[in-house]
Amino acid sequence: MQVIISHVNLDFDGLASMVAAKKLYPQAKLILPSKQGKTVERFLAIYRDSLNLYHPNEINWQEVRTVIMVDIASLQRTGDVAKYINDEEVEFIVYDHHEESDHNVQAKLAKIEKVGATVTLILEKIKMKNISITSFEATIFALGLYTDTGSFTYLSTTSRDLKMASYLIENGANLQVITKFSESPLQEEEQQLLQCLIQQSEEHYIDGIDILIASHQQNEYIGGLAFLSRKALEMTGTDALIFVVEMGKRIFIVGRSTSERIDILPLVKKLGGGGHKKAASAMVKDGNFHEVLTTVRDDIYQVVKPAITAKDIMTSPVKVVSTKTSIEDAGKMMLRYGHTGFPVLENEKLVGVISRRDVDKAKHHGLGHAPVKGYMSTNPITIDAAMSLEEVQHLMIDENVGRLPVKDNEEIIGIISRTNVIEALHGEQLNTAGKVHLDRPLEITLIDRMKNFLSIENLQLLKQIGKLADQINYSAYIIGGIVRDLIIGRTNEDIDIVVEGNGIDFANLLAENLGGTVRCHEKFATATWKHPSRLKIDITSARTEYYDYPAALPNVEMSSLKEDLFRRDFTINAMAIQINEDHFGKLIDYFHGFNDIKQNKIKVLYNLSFVEDPTRILRAVRFEQRFNFKMDQQTFDLAMISADKIASTSKPRIAHELSILLKEKHPVESLVRLGEIGIIRYLIGTHSFNVQKLKTFKSLVDEIVPLQQNQNSETWVCYLVILFSETENEIELVKDYCLNNESLKVTDQIVELLDDNQNFLKEDTLGAIHHSLKNYQTESIICYIALMQLQECFANKLKKYLQNRTQIPKLIDGNDLLNLNIEKGPLFAKILLEIECAYLNQEIHSKEDAISKVKREYL
Ligand code: CTP
Repeated sequence: MQVIISHVNLDFDGLASMVAAKKLYPQAKLILPSKQGKTVERFLAIYRDSLNLYHPNEINWQEVRTVIMVDIASLQRTGDVAKYINDEEVEFIVYDHHEESDHNVQAKLAKIEKVGATVTLILEKIKMKNISITSFEATIFALGLYTDTGSFTYLSTTSRDLKMASYLIENGANLQVITKFSESPLQEEEQQLLQCLIQQSEEHYIDGIDILIASHQQNEYIGGLAFLSRKALEMTGTDALIFVVEMGKRIFIVGRSTSERIDILPLVKKLGGGGHKKAASAMVKDGNFHEVLTTVRDDIYQVVKPAITAKDIMTSPVKVVSTKTSIEDAGKMMLRYGHTGFPVLENEKLVGVISRRDVDKAKHHGLGHAPVKGYMSTNPITIDAAMSLEEVQHLMIDENVGRLPVKDNEEIIGIISRTNVIEALHGEQLNTAGKVHLDRPLEITLIDRMKNFLSIENLQLLKQIGKLADQINYSAYIIGGIVRDLIIGRTNEDIDIVVEGNGIDFANLLAENLGGTVRCHEKFATATWKHPSRLKIDITSARTEYYDYPAALPNVEMSSLKEDLFRRDFTINAMAIQINEDHFGKLIDYFHGFNDIKQNKIKVLYNLSFVEDPTRILRAVRFEQRFNFKMDQQTFDLAMISADKIASTSKPRIAHELSILLKEKHPVESLVRLGEIGIIRYLIGTHSFNVQKLKTFKSLVDEIVPLQQNQNSETWVCYLVILFSETENEIELVKDYCLNNESLKVTDQIVELLDDNQNFLKEDTLGAIHHSLKNYQTESIICYIALMQLQECFANKLKKYLQNRTQIPKLIDGNDLLNLNIEKGPLFAKILLEIECAYLNQEIHSKEDAISKVKREYL
């Protein structure tokens, strides 16, 4: 036989879960515990007959093989039922949503998960199995769901509960019945008890948290203390409360809280009870009321987790402006740093705060040139670094201020805005979804990935560097692309290091201890350390770059790691891994790069990112194609509106990015994407281009270039030639983007081929073609094929020529000619070319053939 049981003082979640469990185990009998909660009792008074409930003594317990426990996982709270169950003889199935405890039964199947109501767990199964439910059943289930989640307002509520509520309403749950039984009015004796408790309560103010302890002694028992505690919380508005109520010989302890910072459970457990972090209860039989109360009073301090302080959530270092800064400049800084206000200093003293709104108003009146002094709010309220988050919140609400500078002694060490408070409040929940960035970054360790994806030598080297940093108390990090690639799971041995300290000094220290040489770039406070193994490592000081005008080269000012990361292009590139010995492998991720990688997202860190460095648009496309990621909508929009800024960027910088982009695997897709963003127009002067030609070129590259011995080709520049060929502009303009003589040469060759009368196409033999094209690089010739969209027969002829020419052996060389007494001179080159042509025409096959041919024709 199977039975379904729940806890004494059965509440609606217990009852609903029992009825729901029977849908999964239709043979099982529902056992009503000896006591029910008040509202359940009222409900059963009407509906009992519809439910087929058994008293424990109506069951032949010898026959019971399976006990299904719902809303409970231990036999301790089953009241009388426990005595009938021989836990050695039966197997248990458990559905529960309470914290797991040592008293839990050993179950064959245990579904214990943190949801608002146990019935949710069972309903999910019912729904999955497509088991139909009646509207009456839906109503009972909904009662469990509504009452155990406080109509979905308790913090324990999850989206799973809401999904099940929607499912129940779809199946006819009757909201009138639910309202009637879930909102039971207080009986007179309950009202009296509640009044006594509130009157006799003592308030404890701990670290910014308000907790009430309310105690009372009376002879007669009144149920529903949990319900009363909820009512009391609503009435008093405190963060938490604990009831200690003696009724007859028993003392009931009920705790409830609304704050994430409170965990009542350990206190209640100490008194033999259980429950959740925010709602727990215990019952002490024959205990001493005053002793219990003293325990509660003594332990109340441990219930509160340490406060999140202003220092934890503030933005730091704080950007400030002086009273003389113009409204215009303050506005620009707000845009640049994404802040909505700045403290204003005069003679290093805080005298006001200027906000986005002040700036907008002043600008509206044409006062952009005026100093901020006249428009800032004066007498700013400042706070101490140790102020708790709760106090900060109260202050913001009471004083209606949105920005609080944080002081340590007289120094401003940070600032808290409403955003900081919101992030901190929701941080815990949102962090798991990875949406919020607190001042405290996401910290996880990546040691395993480093072991897997770095060479042993580089891993060891990073450890050595970390230890040297420890010696001079510097924090040291690897940063940028290598961090991204470690997370993605790609090898990348391109090591960039950032130190919170002087990068040049640190590079010198590395060279002194580990050898190698250092090249300093004083202007940028960076150094390149060339390790004896020839590995080059760039070392920078944590710094901020700001840009004087869009697309200018960066100037440098010293600042912290977070600032250094913030100035970078995308969240996925704005992470660091610490390499100091004690923190080796710790990921520092302030801006959710880790999460964006998981979601294949390219996101800028701030709105002006592309304006400040338009080459980042090309980088965004490169990473999209390389990793199969996608810009989020906002980043894409920003790229579109910043596209024109590329026109004021120097050609070599653009060319550098373009060359990397076009050397990657998907150059054509990248160019198409650049077209979508609208940046192509600012690169080549028109937005239209022939994708087919690009594709033809790419497929020829894939087919022919891998056959070449020297694969360091300049194919990338050919894509530009093809783009420019579609414009009114001269292809010669491509030369502005040529980075070196090789790319210049290829461009020149293509122009030459296009200017040629195409006589080589008329040639019949490969040898004759070789005569004309020997000096042309493979990429120049295939670019020509693509550009001319040559007829298949011509294209095939040239392809065959290119394939065959890669296989021409060196049958003879200069020495052979000298041995034949031919004088050194221009004839040499002519003869060697003739031999290659003859080989291509299959007229000769060996060295002997070649020598005979020379003898025949030249001696
Ligand atoms: N960076 C940037 N803006 C740029 C170029 C670079 O913010 N215009 C930052 C990024 O944080 C980047 C780092 O500098 O990760 C190093 O740049 P670079 O070596 O050019 O690129 P990687 O990201 O390492 O890319 P790749 O894997 O292609 O080398």
